Amino acid sequence: MNAYRNLTENINKFLTEKYEKDDAGNKIFSNLQSILHFEKACIFYINEDKLTPIYTYNFSTDETDAINIKGLLQYSLNETLFVNNCPFAKLLITDDTPYTEEENNIFKTCSFITANIIKEIELKDIMKMQVKALQDGIVEINGFNKIIKEQNKKILEADKVKNKFLSNVSHELRSPLNSIIGFSDMLISEAFGNLNEKQKEYVKDIQIAGIHLLGMVNEILDISKIESHAVKMNYSTFDMNLCLTEVLNILKPLYLKKQIAINNRILPDTLIMADYQKLQQIFFNIVSNAIKFTSEGGKIEITAKSTKKYITVHIKDNGIGIASKHHKKIFKKFEQINPSSTEGMNSTGLGLTITKELVKMHNGTIKVESELTKGATFSIKLPIKSIVA
Ligand SMILES: Nc1ncnc2c1ncn2[C@@H]1O[C@H](COP(=O)(O)OP(=O)(O)O)[C@@H](O)[C@H]1O
Ligand SMILES: [Mg+2]
Repeated sequence: MNAYRNLTENINKFLTEKYEKDDAGNKIFSNLQSILHFEKACIFYINEDKLTPIYTYNFSTDETDAINIKGLLQYSLNETLFVNNCPFAKLLITDDTPYTEEENNIFKTCSFITANIIKEIELKDIMKMQVKALQDGIVEINGFNKIIKEQNKKILEADKVKNKFLSNVSHELRSPLNSIIGFSDMLISEAFGNLNEKQKEYVKDIQIAGIHLLGMVNEILDISKIESHAVKMNYSTFDMNLCLTEVLNILKPLYLKKQIAINNRILPDTLIMADYQKLQQIFFNIVSNAIKFTSEGGKIEITAKSTKKYITVHIKDNGIGIASKHHKKIFKKFEQINPSSTEGMNSTGLGLTITKELVKMHNGTIKVESELTKGATFSIKLPIKSIVA
């Protein structure tokens, strides 16, 4: 009875012991010895018909190397170890004292336990390798992240340099362009002598080209300022009608050339507190688009509606229009719906992006209502007092 209790306890210990790869051989054999007597023991992997020793007890390497499947029979007991019905190893024990039938059965149970112990160790090993691979992967990802961060920093620095360069260059370009436009105006007015028709036409063309170029230079200057967060608001209270009239005067040569009628119906003395130059830029961008995308002989109408707190300016044209699926896209940088139609029209695809930003800076909103071929209405809603309380 006592011997039996010992046996169950020892089998239990064999079963529940913690085995690590390095000490598994010793532990397996020492547990086995508390259950069965043997002089020598070995566990082999089966590799086709070859046996490769994994753990040995009292066997010399020469001996185990010499053992093949058939050779197992010369020793006392051997059992095949299975996992999921697959034979993968052999357990061998041998002793001068022969084994009883009962011991033989106990050996079968021990083989079953050994099979599970070995598979568990293998599984742990695979898991360890996978964890290691994962950790290596993480280290690698962290390495990449570091590189990406460094590159981002460089890109940001390069961007700053680019923005600074652009704002310098644009500045240098604006003054001569203003001279070209201004002096063309003087020539066209014939204040200093008459021009013949051809001369007048050419000077007008020079002026129009100058206006286009000024628009582009302004857009590049504005976007670089916005992107480098260098835009400061300069609020004052002024007449919106006057602000728009000035813009329309600059654009006059463009819309006259296309025989487009512009009707400014904003009432005189419509006061607003805003940034004068930025509002001019907003009007310039939207009206110049309306001119650009309206055919000869078209119409542009500018109206305003006020509530207590807001004024909304509607700039409506009867030009080519914009399909509703493009309404969001056109406010994104460099997006042009039909770039070929604006070819040769000095387009940067930046105008609406800038306009939206400038409107936002006033705590306002901009939206478009349009259908393809049915003209477009851009509506700009601004707080009459734009400064946030
Ligand atoms: N009034 C309009 N009518 C039709 N399409 C317009 C109008 N205004 C803007 N768009 C479309 O939105 C695009 C983006 O406008 P914008 O940012 O000002 O760039 P750009 O004028 O340089 O092309 C234009 O290329 C055009 O496709
Ligand atoms: Mg534009």
